[in-house]
Parts: sequence; C-alpha cells; structure tokens
Amino acid sequence: MTAQMKLGAFLWATGHHIAAWRHPKAHVKAGIDIDHYMALARTAEAAKFDMIFCEDAAGLREANVDIASQTSRSIGFEPISLLSALAVQTSRIGLVSTASTSYNEPYGLARTFLSLDHLSGGRAGWNLVTSASQIEAANFGAAGLKPHADRYERAREFAEAVTGLWRGKAGHDGQSFSVRDPLDLPRSPQGAPVMVQAGASDVGRDLAARTADVVFTAAQTFEEAKAFYDDLKGRMAAYGREPDDIKIMPGVAPVVAETEAEAREKFEELQELIPDDVGVALLSSYLSISDLWRHPLDGPLPDLPESEGMKSRQALVVEQSRRDGLSIRQLARHFAGARGHWRIVGTAVQVADELQARFEGGAADGFNVMPSYFPGELDAFATLVVPELQRRGLFRKAYEGATLRAHLGLRRPS
Ligand SMILES: Cc1cc2nc3c(=O)[nH]c(=O)nc-3n(C[C@H](O)[C@H](O)[C@H](O)COP(=O)(O)O)c2cc1C
Repeated sequence: MTAQMKLGAFLWATGHHIAAWRHPKAHVKAGIDIDHYMALARTAEAAKFDMIFCEDAAGLREANVDIASQTSRSIGFEPISLLSALAVQTSRIGLVSTASTSYNEPYGLARTFLSLDHLSGGRAGWNLVTSASQIEAANFGAAGLKPHADRYERAREFAEAVTGLWRGKAGHDGQSFSVRDPLDLPRSPQGAPVMVQAGASDVGRDLAARTADVVFTAAQTFEEAKAFYDDLKGRMAAYGREPDDIKIMPGVAPVVAETEAEAREKFEELQELIPDDVGVALLSSYLSISDLWRHPLDGPLPDLPESEGMKSRQALVVEQSRRDGLSIRQLARHFAGARGHWRIVGTAVQVADELQARFEGGAADGFNVMPSYFPGELDAFATLVVPELQRRGLFRKAYEGATLRAHLGLRRPS
C-alpha cells in the first residue's frame, strides 16, 4: 500500500487568512459560536482528518479590541474547554489543543489533558508551547516575557513531569516543579495523550526530538521543509527514538477552487482585504520589533536586534525579505495572508500535486491544513482535495482505529 499522509484541520475562529473576518462569506462572530465549531468538527471528521487542532494564547491578539462587538480575532473559547464539547459531538477524530508551559503547572495540565483523553475515548493531544508573546506574559505577572532559553528549560522539565504522570508515575522533584502523587485517573485509552510541538529553534527542535509525537512547522519552500525534516529526524537517535516516532506536519494554507482562475480570484479577493496597519502589526510581532511603523513602508526591512521571541519565525521573515527583495509593505501582505505558512492556490489536482511532492520527497509526513476562512475553505478542501488524495491512495477513506495514536500510526507508550 502507498504510504498515507496525515492531515490536521487547524481551526481558528473566522479563518487563517488575516483578513478572513472581512470576507463576505466568513462568519464574523465565529469565535464564540459553538454551533460553528461543531459543524467544522463534523466536516473534518467526515473527511477523515486525523485531528482537529486549536492554537492558543491567553491574551488579546491585537490592540484596541472591542470585546462587546464579538467580532475580533482575539475573541474565542479557551480551547481545551471547546474540545471537551466537541469530544461528545464526534467519535473518531483526534482533538489537539495548545497549552503553555510558562503559565501552567504540570499536575494541573496533565490532569486536564488526561481527562479530555478519557472523555473522548483516547483522542486527545497536547500542543506544548512556551509562549513567545509579551501580551500574554503581561497577564501572568509583571516580570514580562522570560528569556527563550529559560522558557525552554522550564518546558523540558514540564514535559518530563507531565509524561511521567500520564504513565502513572508518582512524584517529580526538579528545578521548577515538585509533584508528590500520581494523577487521580487511570492510564489513557491510547497509553498517553499525543504530544505535539512546534518549536523550530535549536532548543525547540531538541525538545521536540526528545518528547514530541507530532511536530508542526512553518516552511515556505520545499528546501526549507526538507532541511527541517531531516534535521529533526536526525536529532532523535540521541534520545533513543526512531525517525518514525515523530510525524512532521508543516502548515499549509490552500486556496482551492474548481478552476485555477477561480482559485486565484478567491485569493486576490482575500489579499485585497488586508489593511496595511494589520499587516505591519503582525509582521512586527514576528520580528519582535515595536517601531516598524517608523520605517518607510515601501523601503526594505531595517537591521533587527536578535529576538527573544520567536527566533525561527524572525529568521524566516528576514531571509525571505532579502531573497525576494520585498519592501516592508510587500512583506507584511505576504506574511499576513498565511501568517508565514506555505500557501498553495489552485485546483484540487494542483494542490494534491504539491502536497504529494513534499510528502513523497521526504519533507513532510502530513500537513496541518489552515483554511483561509471558515466554513467555506474547509468545505472546499474536504470536498475537492481530500477525494483527490484518496484517489491517489495518499489518504485514508475510513479510520483504521479508534484513537489519535492509531490514526497517526504511533506506538503506544510503555
Ligand atoms: C502550526 C503552529 C502552531 C502554533 N501554535 C502556537 C500556539 O497556539 N501558541 C503559541 O504560543 N505558539 C504557537 N506556535 C509557535 C511555536 O510554539 C513556537 O513558539 C514557534 O514556532 C517558535 O519556536 P522557537 O521559539 O523554538 O523558535 C505555533 C507554531 C506553529 C508552526
């Protein structure tokens, strides 16, 4: 049988395109509409996606949010609560939520995810993040964002404590955390919830190689994706792990339609909805620089101080700006659209061709699909691209097992 790719449905309120909420077919109050999320979950499950994925940051995503209007990108459910509701509306699809190692404690978080795992019959996953946002940090004490290396050292110990608890072990006594008892729950139906990670810096990759079952990444070109894939798989032997123990799933932001012309038109319509201030604000956050506005928008990126935020994302933006000679405004539009992820615009055949090339070229084990706006673009992927992948034998037509680990072809942990 042909090897089959894994697919995640990355849910995010109105959609992944930065201007999704301005699209006439988007649902502007999606963030707190449970019916909206239930419909998306059912679509993803009917299409046999491996998992639904929810990102998170415990804070506002932009300045001057009008909470009362309920239309901001910043407004949305806390994702583990949301997935608990979706768990009882679905029966097979995996449920992965983000949670921060900087603003939680291992015992509480291990307990929450193991509960989600039990109540979904073994379908839960935790996307471990160290949280790079200053805005988020300000909600958890006045000290501000901790240095990158300190966040990752805490994350390493946090993950060790959580996986110990999930394996039924008692006690953890370390630098940052102390836990006395085991959890008040039995082992997970899938052995342990699935561990997901998306760190791309050197320490981030090491942590993934040591602990992750699934890794998300942002890679624009085949070469970037392949280099990341080989590097991460190459780091695993040092931790006594096989390359296949991690599934690497880069983000992909497809815009798909029956014809290429229609897909291009759909994409241009979205790009034209991006306001300059939104684009530049997002670019600034990737670059960890607050005064990008002071530089002429039609000029090149200035030289930047080294980031304590998302080091890998900063490097990606800088490289692209130098490679393609883009102005600040052009870069802002480019990155704002797909937020630094890989974009494919075309027909189902063209999208499937591109996914197949990265999958078979050894640059990905699957993809985290980031629809531009919901529900329309998830529907388009499910009804156009998934059947094309199935025709090629590249994606399942039915779930093989009941748990997220089974879908992903991961070993049950001892
Ligand atoms: C698909 C994807 C989803 C992510 N989701 C979140 C998230 O929900 N919350 C968060 O704080 N960071 C998120 N990140 C950021 C990563 O956790 C990480 O901070 C970033 O990739 C930079 O890694 P580095 O600090 O190791 O360079 C995500 C990254 C990717 C590629």
